[in-house]
Amino acid sequence: MKKEDFKTCSQSGFCQRNRAYADDAVSAGSGFQSPYSIIQDSIQFNHNSKNSHVKAEIENTDTKVIFTLDVTLLQDNTARVRINEKSPLKPRYDDHAKYTLHQDPITVAPQHMEKDTKTGVVTVILDDSRKLIITPEPFKMAFLVNDSPIITLNDRGFFNFEHLRTKENHVPKMIKQTNDEGVMEEQQSELENTMWEETFKSWTDPKPNGPESIALDISFNGFSHVYGIPEHASSLSLKETRGGDNAYTEPYRLYNTDVFEYALDSPTSLYGAVPFMTAHRKDISAGVFWMNPSETWIDITKDKSEKNTIHKILDFGKKSSDNDDTTTQTHWISEAGVLDLFVFFGPTTKDVLRQYTTLTGAPALPQMFAIGYHQCRWNYINEKDVLDVDSKFDENDIPYDVIWLDIEYTDDKKYFTWDQAKFPNPIEMEKQLDHKGRQLVVIVDPHIKRAHNYRICDEAIKDKHFVQQPSGGDYEAWCWPGQSSWVDFFNPKARNWWKSEFTFEKFAGTRENVHLWNDMNEPAIFNGPEITMQKEMIHHDNWEHRVLHNLYSLLSHGATTDGIRERTAIQKRPFVLARGFYSGVQRYGPVWTGDNMANWEALTFTNPMVLTNGMGGVPFSGADIPGFFNNPTPELLVRWYQTGVFQPFFRAHAHIDTKRREPYLLDEPHKSLTRAAIRERYALLPYWYSLFYDTYKNGTPMMRPMFMEFPQDENLFAMEDQFMLGEAILVKPITKEDATSTEIYFSGDQPWYDMKTYERTLHTGLKTVEAPLEKIPAYYRGGFIVPRRERIRRSSAAMKLDPFTLIIALDRKSMAQGTLYIDDGETYDFQQGSYAHTGFYYNRGTLNCAPLHNDVASPAATSFAESMKLLRVERIHVLGLKKKPSHVRLISNNDDQPQNLPFEYDDSNSSLMIRDPASSVTECGWTITIE
Ligand code: GLC
Repeated sequence: MKKEDFKTCSQSGFCQRNRAYADDAVSAGSGFQSPYSIIQDSIQFNHNSKNSHVKAEIENTDTKVIFTLDVTLLQDNTARVRINEKSPLKPRYDDHAKYTLHQDPITVAPQHMEKDTKTGVVTVILDDSRKLIITPEPFKMAFLVNDSPIITLNDRGFFNFEHLRTKENHVPKMIKQTNDEGVMEEQQSELENTMWEETFKSWTDPKPNGPESIALDISFNGFSHVYGIPEHASSLSLKETRGGDNAYTEPYRLYNTDVFEYALDSPTSLYGAVPFMTAHRKDISAGVFWMNPSETWIDITKDKSEKNTIHKILDFGKKSSDNDDTTTQTHWISEAGVLDLFVFFGPTTKDVLRQYTTLTGAPALPQMFAIGYHQCRWNYINEKDVLDVDSKFDENDIPYDVIWLDIEYTDDKKYFTWDQAKFPNPIEMEKQLDHKGRQLVVIVDPHIKRAHNYRICDEAIKDKHFVQQPSGGDYEAWCWPGQSSWVDFFNPKARNWWKSEFTFEKFAGTRENVHLWNDMNEPAIFNGPEITMQKEMIHHDNWEHRVLHNLYSLLSHGATTDGIRERTAIQKRPFVLARGFYSGVQRYGPVWTGDNMANWEALTFTNPMVLTNGMGGVPFSGADIPGFFNNPTPELLVRWYQTGVFQPFFRAHAHIDTKRREPYLLDEPHKSLTRAAIRERYALLPYWYSLFYDTYKNGTPMMRPMFMEFPQDENLFAMEDQFMLGEAILVKPITKEDATSTEIYFSGDQPWYDMKTYERTLHTGLKTVEAPLEKIPAYYRGGFIVPRRERIRRSSAAMKLDPFTLIIALDRKSMAQGTLYIDDGETYDFQQGSYAHTGFYYNRGTLNCAPLHNDVASPAATSFAESMKLLRVERIHVLGLKKKPSHVRLISNNDDQPQNLPFEYDDSNSSLMIRDPASSVTECGWTITIE
């Protein structure tokens, strides 16, 4: 990574000012008092049966500038805090919510609100255990659970809201300094130098609005661990950034950028930005969402001292017995906009994620093919190449669902066109793929080549669809096509135009099995400051790029997704991959971790990065397998595929300068091992798809940190090299060269079963297990049932009607349960009830099922179940069955004669295999007994 291309906090004026503000507050110690106070007479309760606001005015007692405070309670244990200038010189950017939130948040009334007439302290009681307290002088807020504050705002007094001002009226900050002659004199603080203009490398940001930043400290009291705020190549449990063991020296930064050969273990910003953080401790999780799309920096420190615990200072109440004395203190600094913060009370991490995705949108349920294996490369060079690769997969018995075309398929990087010489007949090629149930993804980036007689460019110029320069005229800069302009997705007309470009008429050469890839949507600009757009460029309604930068990624992804959805007569769930992202992206589609390296360190970092995306409400993500830049060793390649099997987005990709590395090109044993890994993915598709459905319903990521399943086990709070896939599978990817064994940490007191050998372990804690190259250390968790499909075919579509295998991993009480979700795998009919969701229950020798559909008697549900009733279970493995049964019987409701089922019992691992019970997975009413 070229570090010098990207700003440090001290090279970013507003970050530097706010860090200095924090330093002043800390060094003044108890002598410091935040200048922000609530004007007590201004406190109002707007209360009706549906919603209630606490409104008040906050004064900066130094500058006398007045701000408005608006606190609301939202459904599902969520609160929102908004602060804006009361009378700004001109409006501050406050349009972010309409793009970020999925719908207007639903407000609820508190149980009780009161103001102490003497002190002005406001107490809002949500329910018997939760309340929030607003203290007026200085302004602070605390969110309490059982009278113990879990989250506090402005506890350290770093709240700083830079009001809009004119240069003429600005009173510069002066500091006393001794000059060369030893005389004390007043000088302008150096921090003044970047208030009205700021230079980085050869770029000068004219900053027409001067300073306008917003900063606030948020403390998580009694929490040692915080998570989220993707995207960084960092650890799962976020590190400290200002002192402390193993700390970074820079804050975590959220500013979407295209970082070439990005550094690992770094708080540097990457392609995506989600300002959402969750804190977890044994007894509770809680979170905050700092909804601001401008450049944002976040400092993290952990205070282990007793003195700073908020309950001591503010006497808010008692300390919860379970928390430790560490308080994780965070300092959020954004360049512009308004303060718009959500606080989530949890109480579990899963609750926090549900609360966040209720606001920002449910993760989209993808089409089935999207969770199969994707074969990408920069570039498959022509139609023959594509079809050759396609048939090689078949010849080598390796399944795959999607082949990808990178930028070289276009005519001279003019998106929506084809290079006629290389792709003279794309429709024919797509049809051939379609015959095998396969898909094509093509890339379309948001930069448009400035070229004559290029319809897209001509139309965009004529209709003013491009981002503008401050002085007027289209913004132009460099990207893949050379001189380009950037679509202004904030302009509703431009958005609609963009969407319409994906119709089959306009995007000639594409048919229904063609899907999309939006890259470079940070936006990446080769000759721009920090490889992105100058902040002074102008979007629709005259907003500077500065105020909305991170939203650009979201809007481009959203517009493409809408375009793809709307182009078919019967709407299909769109598949659009994007690189840049912001909060809400989960509504649209997957993201990936960008241009990684083919080395072991990069493989290691895929786990915390993808886990962190999940903790940021972005469950569908993955990393380029087996590393984008450079050529992987065969061993690395195998290990990377083995890891990717258990990560949500499973795509191989390669830089144009790398050697071909399609899995069938490998020598043995690597070819067979890679084949086995990909086939394992296909076997697990029913489980994956069921997990995606759960994620769509409640926001819990499919691939999740260990602590999410074992929230009480502190040994797991920072664990990032092993993870859970849903509730039922534990995975420890091998990310070290030459490994033949690894250490796995088994949590809880239930057995675990090796996924391949079914061997049971009852171990708790660390255990060394064998991990030769052919082995992916992965375990079924006792107490759960996992649906699989063992007839591996060339694509997921070809497996659509195949029967299932159930793995029943018994817990200590000989019980287990699991679910299977199925629908048509492509349309939105499931939203009308056309799906089957089946719960399987095993209880000491009896297996049956029950529908989990929320309206099971509805015509849509019954007709779907009927149409799929032949989908059956063809095999059952019961793991951990202590002794060989004498009979296994199937009893069907319609048939009173029990039927004996053939079975085999394996003494060596205590597993039972039941052959062909033929029980339907969509129509329950059967029971299998093991006697
Ligand atoms: C960017 C993308 C990479 C792609 C390349 C060419 O570097 O991250 O995936 O292959 O552009 O389009």
